[in-house]
Amino acid sequence: MIKCHISLGFSFLLILLGACKQDAGADKNQASDKKTRALIEKASWGNLPDGTAIDIYTLTNKNGLAAKITNYGGIVVSLSTPDRNGKMEDVVLGYETLDEYVKDNPYFGCIVGRYANRIANGQYDLGGKTYKLAKNDGENHLHGGQKGFDKVVWEAVPDTSKGEASLNLTYVSPDMEEGYPGNLEVRVVYTLTNENALKITYFATPDKQTHVNLTNHSYFNLTGDAKRDILDHELSLTANGFLPVDAGLIPTGSLTSLNGSAFDFRKPKKIGADINAGHEQLKLGQGYDHCWVLSNIQTANMKNPAASLFEPTSGRYMEVYTTEPAIQFYSGNFLDGKYKGKGGVVYQDRWGLCLETQHFPDTPNRSQNEWPCTVIMPGSHYASTTIYKFSVR
Ligand code: GLA
Repeated sequence: MIKCHISLGFSFLLILLGACKQDAGADKNQASDKKTRALIEKASWGNLPDGTAIDIYTLTNKNGLAAKITNYGGIVVSLSTPDRNGKMEDVVLGYETLDEYVKDNPYFGCIVGRYANRIANGQYDLGGKTYKLAKNDGENHLHGGQKGFDKVVWEAVPDTSKGEASLNLTYVSPDMEEGYPGNLEVRVVYTLTNENALKITYFATPDKQTHVNLTNHSYFNLTGDAKRDILDHELSLTANGFLPVDAGLIPTGSLTSLNGSAFDFRKPKKIGADINAGHEQLKLGQGYDHCWVLSNIQTANMKNPAASLFEPTSGRYMEVYTTEPAIQFYSGNFLDGKYKGKGGVVYQDRWGLCLETQHFPDTPNRSQNEWPCTVIMPGSHYASTTIYKFSVR
């Protein structure tokens, strides 16, 4: 039996509970911190086809950065950051309306769970049982199934009590939802910090052993308001290697060295530099869609960025810090002109890129200890933090 525990101290739990307090005395639809001017505004954002009312929250930090986040799928709908001239523009892809997200969302901005990325053949064995999952990506299971955490309604509580704009989202995933065992209490906290970062903390507690692998699926385009593709963005990844995939984009198993290959982003490199250079692995997913195994010693304590991204025209620079052992770097290969986004912009292939911090895809089908464990036992807790920090150069 696989055993792994990510335990938190009791005091940490108390801090978490405290984090749910709403700002006392604030207007019903507004929470703000007077000293720092961090602010959260709530507005109605329409109804789901079943009538459920959905809200959208605007988080603003003291420097005027703003993030719009909805409790449908925990989606980051927009994220405005300054360019080197101070011009605020949106750096994530997405839609203007709830209806469009409900109709067809290629995972723009959402929380992904219970298991981010693919599980081969839509099944795995755990504790002597075989669990069958939806095959919603060819023969494989992708991003938690037909109705993953990206399509559920989260309970939202805004909080500015610590001088920063935070949105606490909670969701209880019932036993066997999408085929996964155990009730799972999930909390995701988005904070727009006064250091110009979008910080995402994830917590989950099961009542049976179950696999958990959560991430956020924002597509970044640092040109602002998505002016063109992301091929000129310079990316760096603090990685030891990457996981090659098969035709169904399932890792084949061997950690492969980066040395000088198209996959080597250890020094900043334009995403477009090698993307069309004919590497066999880049033909499979029509671009980058792979798991980079982070140099954990350097990155897991969040002192060094796991990734950085620079867009030369706007000067925007984004650093990614994470406690997770890997990043799925996806270069937006399947956008394909199918999605008309905010401002009427039609997103073509490679107009946005995702840096999905997570454990490795298909870990549930790997033998114990081969890869970092994704099983959470009852009585223990999943906890994970990722920070997307913005500045200019
Ligand atoms: C992930 C996957 C991609 C694709 C996108 C969503 O990044 O790795 O293959 O499925 O999500 O379109």
